[in-house]
Amino acid sequence: MKIAVLISGRGSNLQALIDAASQAEAGPRWPAGIVLGISNVAGAQGLQRAEAAGIPTTVINHKDFEDRETFDAAMTAAIEAAADGNGAELVCLAGFMRLLSTPFIDHWRDRLINIHPSLLPAYKGLDVHQRVLDAGEDFSGCSVHFVRPEMDTGPIILQAKVPVQPGDDADALAARVLEQEHVIYPEAVRLIADGRVSVDGELAQIDGKGKN
Ligand code: GAR
Repeated sequence: MKIAVLISGRGSNLQALIDAASQAEAGPRWPAGIVLGISNVAGAQGLQRAEAAGIPTTVINHKDFEDRETFDAAMTAAIEAAADGNGAELVCLAGFMRLLSTPFIDHWRDRLINIHPSLLPAYKGLDVHQRVLDAGEDFSGCSVHFVRPEMDTGPIILQAKVPVQPGDDADALAARVLEQEHVIYPEAVRLIADGRVSVDGELAQIDGKGKN
């Protein structure tokens, strides 16, 4: 499966997808290849990670567009032109920090996934880790989900739960959650690429079974 990865910054989740592909060369089959990395921020660290792995990259700066829809349309055009015009089949948001327009989300329905650093539907939005700490939660985690127009909603494919430890600050909790993001994002891509994920109503199923 050909995938496009959209980033805005550090790109450690992009790196996890790159690493899954390269480690699989020696081990289990990896069914996905990254055909394009897009950043809305010039100079994002993730761009260097993609380039180091020989992945084509492009910068599409939202500030160059008059509105969200035309910015998103430019991204769709780039994604569909990737892989010599064959286009990507799955779009992965990996720390992509722009809200997407409904036409873009509808165009890529059930082919657009996101990783979010909380146990959705809890703690949508920004500044997640500090809010988890302020609420005195014992656990946090991360979620991979299909994207729907309402922010941080959509059928949840995989989640990982992470304990909050005494003395955690937001950075310490973020680092513990991020480790699990790097496990479940490649795993979710693998499941989708292997055709094992379906959407029934607004619930994702793996091998025809729901999570509960
Ligand atoms: C990750 O923790 C990701 O879950 C989060 O941004 C970070 C990006 O890190 N995404 C969101 O908060 C989206 N709402 P990375 O650039 O190193 O992958």
